[in-house]
Amino acid sequence: MTRVLITGADGEIGRAASADLLRHGYEVTALSLSYGSHHPADRVLVGDTTSVDDVAAALDGADAVAHFAAIPHPSLGTPYEVFRINTDSTFNVLEQAGARGIRRAVIASSINALGYPNNPHGPMPPSFPLDERSTPDVGDAYSLSKGVDEQTARYAHRRYGIDVVALRFPLVKWPEVLHATAKEIAADPGLMSREGWAYLTMADAARAVRAALEAPVTGVVVAGLSAEDTLIDLPTSVLLADYAPSVPVAREIVGTRTLIDTTVAATVLGFRPAESIHDGTATHPPIPVRTP
Ligand SMILES: NC(=O)c1ccc[n+]([C@@H]2O[C@H](COP(=O)([O-])OP(=O)(O)OC[C@H]3O[C@@H](n4cnc5c(N)ncnc54)[C@H](O)[C@@H]3O)[C@@H](O)[C@H]2O)c1
Repeated sequence: MTRVLITGADGEIGRAASADLLRHGYEVTALSLSYGSHHPADRVLVGDTTSVDDVAAALDGADAVAHFAAIPHPSLGTPYEVFRINTDSTFNVLEQAGARGIRRAVIASSINALGYPNNPHGPMPPSFPLDERSTPDVGDAYSLSKGVDEQTARYAHRRYGIDVVALRFPLVKWPEVLHATAKEIAADPGLMSREGWAYLTMADAARAVRAALEAPVTGVVVAGLSAEDTLIDLPTSVLLADYAPSVPVAREIVGTRTLIDTTVAATVLGFRPAESIHDGTATHPPIPVRTP
């Protein structure tokens, strides 16, 4: 049995990952600022990931960490708050996990580590598909915090040898929210052109977290994630021609395929998305109820 500390455990991805790990035999310590409803973890802690003492207490007995606590959008705080809380939390969690000899951490990075979606100047990516080597163009504090988090992972590995997987999530929501967003974006596809209309279902995000905890990796792995198709039910070539005509496309994109290169996730983590919102495969993961 492996105990995983999940930070931001009351959040959307934190809850989905907790449920998935519990279903697969893990013990889970949950850490979050507060809880909106019952949490199924067997150890549920209220605490702040910027607090040294709260993180130290939460790490007791943990074999691995999945760190999701963050302000998840640049609009949800001042630039200073977003940058400070996100980067401070990731440093605190990885520094303490590494110092204790914990061997594996997964952190929530983002497609925003590349900076394009929220850059106030609206630059288009240099090319599609986007991958882990695409050149960032960062103009907001949230995207900057995610890029710094990836550097913090490299620091923690060099200093303590902890292996860290940074998952670059695209838009991750429950299927009904993705359907509503898809409808909204279909009316104005240019709104998501800078992130290649990428999405991932919540159940696939949880599976990706488990794959990142279990994959036989060493060092720091940054992995871009996406469903195999785009959020918009149109051929990707049509979206590109109409809403990103200036962006070079490095290889042929067939049908409705994603514009995120997910080769690292597939080959290094062994993760392939199983769900699409367009073919009826998207599911709600069942939330297990805690038994006393
Ligand atoms: N959902 C997405 O579309 C998406 C996309 C890319 C990256 N991400 C990243 O994934 C992670 C989880 O995102 P989410 O959508 O579940 O967000 P969320 O807002 O639903 O969850 C974040 C959780 O972290 C907690 N939290 C915030 N600050 C904290 C602190 N200082 N101490 C303890 N807990 C704290 C919040 O209370 C909340 O429960 C975040 O790091 C986010 O940046 C999410």
